[in-house]
Amino acid sequence: MNTLVVYFSKFGHTRMVAESIAEGLESVGPVRLLSSDQLADTDLEDVDLVVMGSPTHRMNLPEAVRPIFERLPKRILRGVPVAAFDTSYKMSSILARFTAAKKLAQKLRKLGGKRVVPPETFYVEGREGPLYEGEIERARDWARTILDRLDGKGNK
Ligand SMILES: Cc1cc2nc3c(=O)[nH]c(=O)nc-3n(C[C@H](O)[C@H](O)[C@H](O)COP(=O)(O)O)c2cc1C
Repeated sequence: MNTLVVYFSKFGHTRMVAESIAEGLESVGPVRLLSSDQLADTDLEDVDLVVMGSPTHRMNLPEAVRPIFERLPKRILRGVPVAAFDTSYKMSSILARFTAAKKLAQKLRKLGGKRVVPPETFYVEGREGPLYEGEIERARDWARTILDRLDGKGNK
């Protein structure tokens, strides 16, 4: 299984989560880890799973991430399993509706991606981090959940 993990990270914490997810996914095949500014259309060819993550900025996707989705060809992920995550503050349930992961999940679906798991949030203590204790391990567990779901659908 060929996996692509794409992340944007301003202070490094989303990158740490992305690395942990990538490690968790390596048991079933090669995993490429790319920063979103390095992402080219060709990186999305011949992938079996795309995981994308970003911090939440102003209850939305960071501005640096948005142009990617204007640039990529429509339906480029047709039928490809996708999963989205973000890093955010712990928020009230009302504010938690506005996470980068939820926006990413919508964007990935518009590209034709097939959602494997619900969008997931990993928590930071403050604007520049750190991640709460245990979040790196939780990210690895989330990767296993993705593989379990794929396996259940006969995709692995
Ligand atoms: C400009 C800016 C706006 C932010 N807005 C939010 C927000 O609306 N909700 C939230 O939970 N965190 C917000 N944060 C905190 C980020 O989520 C936090 O910086 C991020 O999780 C750290 O990830 P990184 O180290 O990968 O950049 C904001 C941070 C910045 C810099």
